[in-house]
Amino acid sequence: MFERLIRGWSGEQVVVRFDEVSSAWMLIGVHSTVLGPAMGGTRLKAYRSPDEALTDVLRLSQAMTMKQAAAGLDLGGGKAVLAVPEVPAPGSQARRELLLRYGDLVASMGGTYLTAADMNIGEADLDIVGERTMHVLGRSVACGGSGSSAGATALGVFHGIRASIRHAFSDGDLADRRVLVQGVGAVGARLATLLRDAGARLVLADLDDERAAQVARGLGATSIAAHHVLDAECDVFSPCATGGVLSAESIPLLRCRVVAGAANNQLATRWDAERLRDRGILFAPDFVINAGGVIHLAGYERLGWDDAQMTARLAGIGQALAEIFERADRQGVTPAAEADRLAQDRLAAAS
Ligand code: NAI
Repeated sequence: MFERLIRGWSGEQVVVRFDEVSSAWMLIGVHSTVLGPAMGGTRLKAYRSPDEALTDVLRLSQAMTMKQAAAGLDLGGGKAVLAVPEVPAPGSQARRELLLRYGDLVASMGGTYLTAADMNIGEADLDIVGERTMHVLGRSVACGGSGSSAGATALGVFHGIRASIRHAFSDGDLADRRVLVQGVGAVGARLATLLRDAGARLVLADLDDERAAQVARGLGATSIAAHHVLDAECDVFSPCATGGVLSAESIPLLRCRVVAGAANNQLATRWDAERLRDRGILFAPDFVINAGGVIHLAGYERLGWDDAQMTARLAGIGQALAEIFERADRQGVTPAAEADRLAQDRLAAAS
């Protein structure tokens, strides 16, 4: 299976290390360095098998290439997975030692891969990785980093939702639009606050029902059970939890006009973009709308931007999406296809 997965992948290299002490597989996918060093987060997760972990790292690193290219950053696409038998508790010695050994692996790549946060990896973990390598973005401010990128991701998605509403509805106003946010974690909860402040009618859901109810109470919103998300009526469905939510099974159930959210790899297959269009649903390509996180890390830690430059670049996500929607309409293609073309053109020009 390993061989078949890697042969069928378009990336440059995969670094594989089996960590004997923890029985973890450390996998780093360097999909492309055409535009610059491969950058992307590290996911800490218990997978059913190393094959499943490899599938994730190959897919996610490829999506990072598209995200960096579409965002106009001089960075390539990479991603890492620490596939552990069990996720070690935050603050534990076992977690610290795993992260130090992982830091050594990243260091050994000499800057080909720059790591950052992803599922189950936060600032405190990156501070530990940073004890062994300088090739890490998103450490705490106290340790010289720019901190969590979740706020920037949420703001970029917020601008993207506004642009999507302007394109999909004749009045183009967010006020009183019903927006359903799936997943109120680091990004979803911040996004919900921005939407509430802009006058949207919010519906929130999370696998953790209590968390959804708590965030909803704080914002004067309503919450629904996580399993009702797909067939709940709304203007905008905003997936901010996991990938693969838009599929041949789920798309026929949707009762919304727009899908625009932070989750990576929302389309289960590339045909799902066509399925959405056939149902009259406008889809904001995920790697364009959720680029706020990489823009935050690259802007603050590599390009020396100030807050005003950052604010302007995050607002630019809305403008970029508006252009993608218009060009897609003119050319009779889906926004997802148009976003792919944009990224591929930039990669082709650079190579
Ligand atoms: P998080 O882990 O803080 O929050 C995710 C939330 O979704 C959790 O509250 C979890 O309980 C909930 N959830 C998981 N599965 C669910 C389901 N099936 N239904 C409802 N809720 C569910 O993650 P974070 O940082 O908020 O990221 C959210 C998504 O955005 C992820 O897909 C992530 O890959 C993506 N993303 C995050 C970026 C960032 O800067 N944090 C940047 C770009 C993408």
